[in-house]
Amino acid sequence: MKKMTAGIIGGTHGMGRWMTGLLRAQGLAVSVAGRATKTTAVDLAGRCDVVVVAVPIAATAGVIREVGPRVKPGRLLMDLTSLKTEPVALMLSHSEADVVGCHPLFGPSVSDPAGHSVVLCRGRGENGYALMKAVFEKAGYRVLETTPRRHDKMMSVVQALNHFNTIVLGMAVAEAGIPFPELQPFSTPIFTTKMEIVRKVFTDTPGLYADILAGNPHTKKILASYARVAQKIRARADARDTAGLTRAMEDAAKTLF
Ligand SMILES: NC(=O)c1ccc[n+]([C@@H]2O[C@H](COP(=O)([O-])OP(=O)(O)OC[C@H]3O[C@@H](n4cnc5c(N)ncnc54)[C@H](OP(=O)(O)O)[C@@H]3O)[C@@H](O)[C@H]2O)c1
Repeated sequence: MKKMTAGIIGGTHGMGRWMTGLLRAQGLAVSVAGRATKTTAVDLAGRCDVVVVAVPIAATAGVIREVGPRVKPGRLLMDLTSLKTEPVALMLSHSEADVVGCHPLFGPSVSDPAGHSVVLCRGRGENGYALMKAVFEKAGYRVLETTPRRHDKMMSVVQALNHFNTIVLGMAVAEAGIPFPELQPFSTPIFTTKMEIVRKVFTDTPGLYADILAGNPHTKKILASYARVAQKIRARADARDTAGLTRAMEDAAKTLF
């Protein structure tokens, strides 16, 4: 029987490379395209049963517009973008193929699927969705089905707010003018862990975090809340209102946990 074919646009690095390995392990014949490969994104879109867009967020809309019309009806067009509303809408409007929005909630270095989730958003068609759900579950990932809107709302907290907080911490420490090697001997375990996260965000793929902050439609609201809360905490700290600060944390804990 003819092997099912997959084309990974952005399959030379990062999440695209991870997806390539996953699909090959499940018996698909996988081809990849990057900006410098002989095989182009357009070639893959015209000939593969499954076409996955795994390029940086800033390049995603352009790639979907270019390749979407070339993916034939009945085949599958899927993306791996960390945001879902715009890419899914673009895949639907620029192709007649089955459409699935996908966001693995981990980075490409994860090798053990245990405890890791993949978000899937239905776009169009049952077959493509069923295929990808089966692929991820067979590999051992937990599949979490949701809508693009709900995904982006959750990610405005899990990613945008979280990364914003890390960026503020890193930049405030930098502004204090004390290099980390000088702080390190004084570090507590929590501070060391947090500065390792700052190091990853600032030196690994800072563009990805910038794109996540700028591209999520729910970011503005959550960051306005961050600024309000920061202001209130600061006012209490300035006033040495330890009872008020403690009460505020206890109240928040009741909502959170
Ligand atoms: N990294 C993560 O932790 C993570 C987690 C979940 C989801 N995601 C999502 O996965 C997607 C890719 O992110 P990544 O971190 O894997 O990026 P990455 O490591 O920078 O890899 C991007 C890939 O896209 C290719 N590429 C870049 N521009 C292109 C273009 N215009 N046309 C065709 N190929 C192009 C690159 O190939 P060449 O350099 O060879 O051209 C490379 O293979 C993003 O949408 C991101 O939101 C990332």
